[in-house]
Amino acid sequence: MTSASAHRTDAEHVTRVAHYYDANTQRFLRFGEGTSGGAIHRCVWTPDAASPVEAADTVNRLVLQRLSGHVPASEGRVLDLGCGVGATMIRLAHSMDVRVTGVTISREQAEIGATRLAAAGVADRCDIVCADFAELPAEPRYHAIVAIESVLHSPSLADLIPYLASRLHPGGRLTLCDDWLTDKDRGLPARERCLAQFRAGWRVGSLHTVAELAALAERAGLRLLEDLDLTSYLRLGRPRDRLINLIMGVTRAVPGLHDRMVDEPFWANMIGGSALQTGLMRGWLEYHLLVLQRE
Ligand SMILES: C[S@@+](CC[C@H](N)C(=O)[O-])C[C@H]1O[C@@H](n2cnc3c(N)ncnc32)[C@H](O)[C@@H]1O
Repeated sequence: MTSASAHRTDAEHVTRVAHYYDANTQRFLRFGEGTSGGAIHRCVWTPDAASPVEAADTVNRLVLQRLSGHVPASEGRVLDLGCGVGATMIRLAHSMDVRVTGVTISREQAEIGATRLAAAGVADRCDIVCADFAELPAEPRYHAIVAIESVLHSPSLADLIPYLASRLHPGGRLTLCDDWLTDKDRGLPARERCLAQFRAGWRVGSLHTVAELAALAERAGLRLLEDLDLTSYLRLGRPRDRLINLIMGVTRAVPGLHDRMVDEPFWANMIGGSALQTGLMRGWLEYHLLVLQRE
Protein backbone atom coordinates (compact mmCIF):
# COMPACT_ATOMS: atom_id res chain seq x y z
CA MET A 1 0.00 0.00 0.00
CA THR A 2 2.86 2.36 0.73
CA SER A 3 5.44 1.52 -1.94
CA ALA A 4 3.13 2.40 -4.89
CA SER A 5 2.08 5.70 -3.31
CA ALA A 6 5.73 6.61 -2.62
CA HIS A 7 6.35 6.63 -6.39
CA ARG A 8 3.25 8.53 -7.40
CA THR A 9 3.72 12.06 -8.80
CA ASP A 10 1.69 14.98 -7.43
CA ALA A 11 -0.38 15.05 -10.63
CA GLU A 12 -1.15 11.32 -10.33
CA HIS A 13 -2.15 11.82 -6.70
CA VAL A 14 -4.55 14.65 -7.60
CA THR A 15 -6.07 12.51 -10.39
CA ARG A 16 -6.66 9.75 -7.84
CA VAL A 17 -8.37 12.25 -5.51
CA ALA A 18 -10.64 13.39 -8.37
CA HIS A 19 -11.54 9.80 -9.23
CA TYR A 20 -12.21 9.01 -5.55
CA TYR A 21 -14.73 11.87 -5.24
CA ASP A 22 -16.29 11.33 -8.68
CA ALA A 23 -16.94 7.70 -7.73
CA ASN A 24 -18.01 8.21 -4.10
CA THR A 25 -19.92 11.51 -3.96
CA GLN A 26 -23.42 10.17 -4.71
CA ARG A 27 -22.94 7.58 -1.98
CA PHE A 28 -21.58 10.17 0.49
CA LEU A 29 -24.66 12.29 -0.13
CA ARG A 30 -27.00 9.34 0.40
CA PHE A 31 -25.33 7.62 3.34
CA GLY A 32 -22.64 9.98 4.69
CA GLU A 33 -22.61 11.26 8.24
CA GLY A 34 -23.29 14.82 7.16
CA THR A 35 -25.94 13.73 4.65
CA SER A 36 -28.45 16.43 5.49
CA GLY A 37 -27.75 19.66 3.65
CA GLY A 38 -25.11 18.11 1.38
CA ALA A 39 -22.17 18.44 3.78
CA ILE A 40 -19.37 15.99 3.00
CA HIS A 41 -17.73 16.37 6.37
CA ARG A 42 -18.13 14.96 9.83
CA CYS A 43 -20.88 15.55 12.34
CA VAL A 44 -19.52 17.40 15.36
CA TRP A 45 -21.66 16.88 18.45
CA THR A 46 -20.95 20.01 20.44
CA PRO A 47 -23.40 20.42 23.36
CA ASP A 48 -25.55 22.79 21.29
CA ALA A 49 -25.98 20.25 18.46
CA ALA A 50 -29.25 18.46 19.18
CA SER A 51 -29.76 16.56 15.91
CA PRO A 52 -27.71 15.11 13.03
CA VAL A 53 -28.68 18.16 10.96
CA GLU A 54 -27.23 20.49 13.60
CA ALA A 55 -24.16 18.30 14.15
CA ALA A 56 -23.48 18.32 10.40
CA ASP A 57 -23.74 22.10 10.50
CA THR A 58 -21.42 22.62 13.51
CA VAL A 59 -18.26 23.26 11.49
CA ASN A 60 -20.12 25.63 9.13
CA ARG A 61 -21.44 27.51 12.16
CA LEU A 62 -17.99 27.74 13.76
CA VAL A 63 -16.53 29.01 10.48
CA LEU A 64 -19.29 31.60 10.11
CA GLN A 65 -18.63 32.91 13.62
CA ARG A 66 -14.95 33.32 12.75
CA LEU A 67 -15.62 35.13 9.49
CA SER A 68 -18.30 37.52 10.64
CA GLY A 69 -16.89 41.02 10.91
CA HIS A 70 -13.81 40.00 8.89
CA VAL A 71 -15.31 39.99 5.42
CA PRO A 72 -16.60 43.32 4.11
CA ALA A 73 -20.27 43.30 3.17
CA SER A 74 -21.23 43.29 -0.52
CA GLU A 75 -17.70 43.40 -2.01
CA GLY A 76 -16.35 40.67 0.30
CA ARG A 77 -15.01 37.53 -1.38
CA VAL A 78 -14.70 34.08 0.18
CA LEU A 79 -13.06 31.01 -1.36
CA ASP A 80 -14.28 27.56 -0.31
CA LEU A 81 -11.27 25.36 -1.01
CA GLY A 82 -12.44 21.82 -1.70
CA CYS A 83 -16.10 22.81 -1.67
CA GLY A 84 -17.77 19.43 -2.19
CA VAL A 85 -21.28 20.04 -3.53
CA GLY A 86 -21.43 23.58 -2.16
CA ALA A 87 -23.15 23.01 1.21
CA THR A 88 -20.84 25.37 3.12
CA MET A 89 -21.02 27.92 0.30
CA ILE A 90 -24.81 27.99 0.51
CA ARG A 91 -24.66 28.37 4.28
CA LEU A 92 -22.20 31.29 3.96
CA ALA A 93 -24.19 32.96 1.19
CA HIS A 94 -27.42 32.72 3.20
CA SER A 95 -25.78 34.23 6.28
CA MET A 96 -23.44 36.87 4.83
CA ASP A 97 -23.63 39.43 2.06
CA VAL A 98 -20.57 38.09 0.22
CA ARG A 99 -19.50 36.47 -3.04
CA VAL A 100 -18.38 32.84 -2.60
CA THR A 101 -16.30 30.84 -5.07
CA GLY A 102 -15.91 27.12 -4.54
CA VAL A 103 -13.26 24.88 -6.03
CA THR A 104 -13.44 21.12 -6.25
CA ILE A 105 -11.31 18.63 -8.17
CA SER A 106 -14.37 16.48 -8.84
CA ARG A 107 -16.41 17.16 -11.97
CA GLU A 108 -19.30 15.18 -10.47
CA GLN A 109 -19.32 17.45 -7.40
CA ALA A 110 -19.08 20.61 -9.51
CA GLU A 111 -22.14 19.58 -11.53
CA ILE A 112 -24.22 18.60 -8.50
CA GLY A 113 -23.04 21.75 -6.72
CA ALA A 114 -24.10 24.07 -9.55
CA THR A 115 -27.62 22.61 -9.42
CA ARG A 116 -27.73 22.97 -5.65
CA LEU A 117 -26.58 26.63 -5.76
CA ALA A 118 -29.35 27.42 -8.24
CA ALA A 119 -31.97 25.58 -6.15
CA ALA A 120 -30.83 27.50 -3.05
CA GLY A 121 -31.23 30.81 -4.89
CA VAL A 122 -27.59 31.89 -4.44
CA ALA A 123 -26.22 31.26 -7.95
CA ASP A 124 -25.94 35.03 -8.54
CA ARG A 125 -23.35 35.30 -5.73
CA CYS A 126 -21.76 31.84 -5.81
CA ASP A 127 -19.97 29.78 -8.39
CA ILE A 128 -18.11 26.48 -8.43
CA VAL A 129 -14.97 25.86 -10.44
CA CYS A 130 -13.72 22.36 -11.20
CA ALA A 131 -9.94 22.74 -10.85
CA ASP A 132 -6.93 21.85 -8.77
CA PHE A 133 -6.87 24.16 -5.76
CA ALA A 134 -3.11 24.43 -6.12
CA GLU A 135 -3.51 26.01 -9.56
CA LEU A 136 -5.90 28.91 -9.02
CA PRO A 137 -5.62 32.12 -11.03
CA ALA A 138 -3.61 34.87 -9.30
CA GLU A 139 -6.69 37.13 -9.19
CA PRO A 140 -9.00 37.79 -7.47
CA ARG A 141 -7.71 37.84 -3.92
CA TYR A 142 -9.97 36.78 -1.07
CA HIS A 143 -10.94 38.18 2.32
CA ALA A 144 -11.29 34.64 3.62
CA ILE A 145 -10.44 31.12 2.52
CA VAL A 146 -12.28 28.22 4.12
CA ALA A 147 -11.08 24.62 3.76
CA ILE A 148 -13.13 21.92 5.45
CA GLU A 149 -11.61 18.43 5.29
CA SER A 150 -9.81 19.25 2.06
CA VAL A 151 -6.20 20.35 2.55
CA LEU A 152 -5.15 16.92 3.79
CA HIS A 153 -5.55 15.80 0.17
CA SER A 154 -2.87 18.26 -0.97
CA PRO A 155 0.37 16.55 -2.04
CA SER A 156 2.28 19.34 -0.27
CA LEU A 157 1.09 21.75 2.40
CA ALA A 158 4.59 23.26 2.33
CA ASP A 159 3.72 24.49 -1.18
CA LEU A 160 -0.02 25.03 -0.71
CA ILE A 161 0.03 27.22 2.43
CA PRO A 162 2.28 30.02 1.03
CA TYR A 163 0.27 29.84 -2.19
CA LEU A 164 -3.00 30.36 -0.29
CA ALA A 165 -1.44 33.13 1.80
CA SER A 166 -0.60 34.98 -1.42
CA ARG A 167 -4.25 34.79 -2.46
CA LEU A 168 -5.49 36.49 0.72
CA HIS A 169 -5.85 40.23 1.23
CA PRO A 170 -3.73 41.53 4.12
CA GLY A 171 -5.71 40.76 7.28
CA GLY A 172 -7.56 37.97 5.43
CA ARG A 173 -8.33 34.71 7.21
CA LEU A 174 -7.58 31.11 6.34
CA THR A 175 -9.77 28.67 8.26
CA LEU A 176 -8.81 25.00 8.11
CA CYS A 177 -10.78 22.14 9.65
CA ASP A 178 -9.06 18.81 9.22
CA ASP A 179 -7.26 15.84 10.76
CA TRP A 180 -3.82 16.56 12.22
CA LEU A 181 -1.10 14.25 13.41
CA THR A 182 -0.05 14.08 17.03
CA ASP A 183 3.37 12.98 18.30
CA LYS A 184 1.88 10.13 20.35
CA ASP A 185 3.60 6.76 19.78
CA ARG A 186 5.69 8.05 16.84
CA GLY A 187 7.48 5.09 15.22
CA LEU A 188 5.23 2.47 16.81
CA PRO A 189 4.58 -0.06 14.01
CA ALA A 190 0.82 -0.25 14.74
CA ARG A 191 0.56 3.55 14.51
CA GLU A 192 2.57 3.78 11.28
CA ARG A 193 0.51 0.96 9.67
CA CYS A 194 -2.70 2.70 10.70
CA LEU A 195 -1.55 6.04 9.26
CA ALA A 196 -0.40 4.36 6.02
CA GLN A 197 -3.88 2.87 5.62
CA PHE A 198 -5.49 6.24 6.31
CA ARG A 199 -3.24 7.91 3.72
CA ALA A 200 -3.81 5.26 1.08
CA GLY A 201 -7.56 4.88 1.66
CA TRP A 202 -8.62 8.50 1.91
CA ARG A 203 -6.10 9.70 -0.70
CA VAL A 204 -4.29 11.77 1.91
CA GLY A 205 -1.32 13.75 0.58
CA SER A 206 -0.39 15.76 3.69
CA LEU A 207 -0.44 14.84 7.34
CA HIS A 208 1.15 17.32 9.75
CA THR A 209 0.96 18.20 13.39
CA VAL A 210 -0.69 21.52 14.25
CA ALA A 211 2.74 22.78 15.37
CA GLU A 212 4.24 21.91 11.95
CA LEU A 213 1.34 23.65 10.22
CA ALA A 214 1.73 26.73 12.41
CA ALA A 215 5.45 26.91 11.55
CA LEU A 216 4.73 26.53 7.80
CA ALA A 217 2.07 29.21 8.06
CA GLU A 218 4.28 31.61 9.97
CA ARG A 219 6.94 31.41 7.27
CA ALA A 220 4.19 32.33 4.79
CA GLY A 221 3.12 35.37 6.83
CA LEU A 222 0.09 33.72 8.42
CA ARG A 223 -0.37 33.87 12.19
CA LEU A 224 -2.26 31.12 14.01
CA LEU A 225 -5.06 32.91 15.89
CA GLU A 226 -7.00 29.91 17.15
CA ASP A 227 -6.61 26.17 17.51
CA LEU A 228 -9.88 24.48 18.45
CA ASP A 229 -9.68 20.73 19.13
CA LEU A 230 -13.03 19.18 18.13
CA THR A 231 -11.96 15.53 18.48
CA SER A 232 -13.92 14.88 21.65
CA TYR A 233 -17.14 15.97 19.89
CA LEU A 234 -16.89 13.32 17.17
CA ARG A 235 -18.95 10.17 17.65
CA LEU A 236 -16.51 7.34 17.16
CA GLY A 237 -17.21 3.63 17.25
CA ARG A 238 -20.84 3.78 16.11
CA PRO A 239 -22.33 0.35 15.20
CA ARG A 240 -21.66 0.88 11.48
CA ASP A 241 -18.03 1.87 12.25
CA ARG A 242 -17.60 -1.30 14.28
CA LEU A 243 -19.04 -3.37 11.43
CA ILE A 244 -16.67 -1.77 8.89
CA ASN A 245 -13.77 -2.34 11.31
CA LEU A 246 -14.70 -5.99 11.55
CA ILE A 247 -14.84 -6.40 7.75
CA MET A 248 -11.50 -4.59 7.41
CA GLY A 249 -9.94 -6.86 10.01
CA VAL A 250 -11.05 -9.96 8.11
CA THR A 251 -9.92 -8.67 4.68
CA ARG A 252 -6.57 -7.51 6.11
CA ALA A 253 -5.83 -11.09 7.02
CA VAL A 254 -5.84 -12.11 3.34
CA PRO A 255 -2.38 -11.38 1.88
CA GLY A 256 -2.42 -8.71 -0.85
CA LEU A 257 -6.18 -8.18 -0.70
CA HIS A 258 -6.06 -4.71 0.88
CA ASP A 259 -3.53 -3.54 -1.71
CA ARG A 260 -6.04 -4.43 -4.45
CA MET A 261 -9.07 -3.10 -2.56
CA VAL A 262 -7.49 0.30 -1.93
CA ASP A 263 -7.49 1.09 -5.67
CA GLU A 264 -11.28 0.83 -5.69
CA PRO A 265 -12.82 4.11 -4.36
CA PHE A 266 -15.63 2.37 -2.45
CA TRP A 267 -13.28 0.08 -0.52
CA ALA A 268 -10.64 2.82 -0.26
CA ASN A 269 -13.15 4.92 1.66
CA MET A 270 -13.84 2.00 4.04
CA ILE A 271 -10.14 1.29 4.58
CA GLY A 272 -9.29 4.96 5.16
CA GLY A 273 -12.34 5.56 7.36
CA SER A 274 -11.61 2.55 9.52
CA ALA A 275 -7.96 3.60 9.95
CA LEU A 276 -9.06 7.15 10.76
CA GLN A 277 -11.36 5.88 13.51
CA THR A 278 -8.48 3.91 15.02
CA GLY A 279 -6.13 6.88 14.69
CA LEU A 280 -8.59 9.21 16.44
CA MET A 281 -9.41 6.70 19.18
CA ARG A 282 -5.73 5.97 19.86
CA GLY A 283 -4.84 9.68 19.93
CA TRP A 284 -2.58 9.47 16.85
CA LEU A 285 -4.83 11.89 14.96
CA GLU A 286 -6.95 14.82 16.10
CA TYR A 287 -9.67 16.86 14.38
CA HIS A 288 -9.02 20.61 14.77
CA LEU A 289 -10.39 23.88 13.45
CA LEU A 290 -7.54 26.33 12.88
CA VAL A 291 -7.88 30.04 12.20
CA LEU A 292 -4.92 31.80 10.58
CA GLN A 293 -4.62 35.44 9.63
CA ARG A 294 -2.42 37.09 7.04
CA GLU A 295 -0.27 39.80 8.61
C1 LIG B 1 -14.18 15.63 2.30
S1 LIG B 1 -14.59 16.62 0.92
C2 LIG B 1 -15.11 18.09 1.78
C3 LIG B 1 -16.11 18.86 0.98
C4 LIG B 1 -16.64 20.13 1.63
N1 LIG B 1 -15.59 20.97 2.14
C5 LIG B 1 -17.61 19.81 2.73
O1 LIG B 1 -17.27 20.06 3.89
O2 LIG B 1 -18.73 19.38 2.42
C6 LIG B 1 -12.99 17.10 0.26
C7 LIG B 1 -13.05 18.10 -0.88
O3 LIG B 1 -11.72 18.48 -1.25
C8 LIG B 1 -11.67 18.57 -2.67
N2 LIG B 1 -10.29 18.46 -3.14
C9 LIG B 1 -9.34 17.57 -2.75
N3 LIG B 1 -8.19 17.80 -3.43
C10 LIG B 1 -8.43 18.84 -4.26
C11 LIG B 1 -7.64 19.57 -5.21
N4 LIG B 1 -6.36 19.25 -5.45
N5 LIG B 1 -8.20 20.60 -5.84
C12 LIG B 1 -9.50 20.95 -5.62
N6 LIG B 1 -10.29 20.30 -4.73
C13 LIG B 1 -9.76 19.27 -4.06
C14 LIG B 1 -12.55 17.42 -3.13
O4 LIG B 1 -12.91 17.58 -4.48
C15 LIG B 1 -13.71 17.57 -2.14
O5 LIG B 1 -14.61 18.53 -2.63
